[in-house]
Amino acid sequence: EAVRVQSIASLSNHTDTIPSEFIRSENEQPAATTLHGVVLEVPVIDLGRLTDEKTIVELISEASRDWGIFQVVNHGIPDQTISNLQRVGQEFFELPRAEKELIAKTPDSGIEGYGTTLQKEVEGKKGWVDHLFHKIWPPSSVNHQFWPKNPPSYREANEEYCERLREVYDKLIKWLSLGVGLEEQEMKVAMGGEDTVFLMKINYYPPCPRPDLALGVVAHTDMSGLTILVPNQVPGLQVFRDGHWHDVKYIPNALIVHIGDQIEILSNGQYKAVFHRTTVNKNCTRMSWPVFLEPPAELEIGPIAKLVSEQTPAKYKTKKYKDYVYCKLNKLPQ
Ligand code: SIN
Ligand code: FE2
Repeated sequence: EAVRVQSIASLSNHTDTIPSEFIRSENEQPAATTLHGVVLEVPVIDLGRLTDEKTIVELISEASRDWGIFQVVNHGIPDQTISNLQRVGQEFFELPRAEKELIAKTPDSGIEGYGTTLQKEVEGKKGWVDHLFHKIWPPSSVNHQFWPKNPPSYREANEEYCERLREVYDKLIKWLSLGVGLEEQEMKVAMGGEDTVFLMKINYYPPCPRPDLALGVVAHTDMSGLTILVPNQVPGLQVFRDGHWHDVKYIPNALIVHIGDQIEILSNGQYKAVFHRTTVNKNCTRMSWPVFLEPPAELEIGPIAKLVSEQTPAKYKTKKYKDYVYCKLNKLPQ
């Protein structure tokens, strides 16, 4: 059976050391590479105050070009829906180990299931994090065998969140479409329309005796089109900007929106996928619930034809999303 970071963390409790495979090289260690003291804030877009769609489109487009990440408040998802999602996810991770292993990933279960990234990443190091992946939309793609049976309200809480999140996605993708001068439906259609896959991930980062030396998730851009995330109250998300890593401020009940690789490609580079990573905490468990909005595997993704011209030639190849994923996971050229 696989070793979970949660088990390693409970063994390292009250110690001052972590296994060497979690100690990052100096150029990655949070203590050595995080810029403190310079307050740079990721754009916060308040949808409750903005009534004029043109202004919203401008703000979202600007944030997506300049940062590739922004937070949204007054997005329409009730606080209760978010706290239910968080509660049932936390309850699952607090179950005895054997219960979680019931929905563990197997060699042929694909991405879904409970797991720990076993494949060592950059420089043979591991991240201080366990996870659970399961699709939540469209219904034809959902495999309930990977959804926790416990707590019993897990399913309802996730379905409720999904319903609300779909409304938020429809608005965001419309505004992103308008923001590059396309018709409002064009970006959504290019992402697969009603077949866009909503992939839920829960990240569980247990307390870590050496948060100065370890990382949660190593630096990356998301492969998805768009990622919409809620964290718990423990900060840890960092964004790379102007040569430094910066903490992203925690705002209760905000949604954190990441531009992923596929929207960068569709926009022919007008929008930028954000380079980000996560740090861990000495005393507190950090959790986050990103939902990856992905094109269907067989759909070809490339710069949208209207965004390619003699002055702005295609910056990216067109390929099936599944081939993009394969190349990225195997570190092959795109
Ligand atoms: C990730 O980028 O995969 C995790 C982000 C987070 O936990 O905030
Ligand atoms: Fe990410």
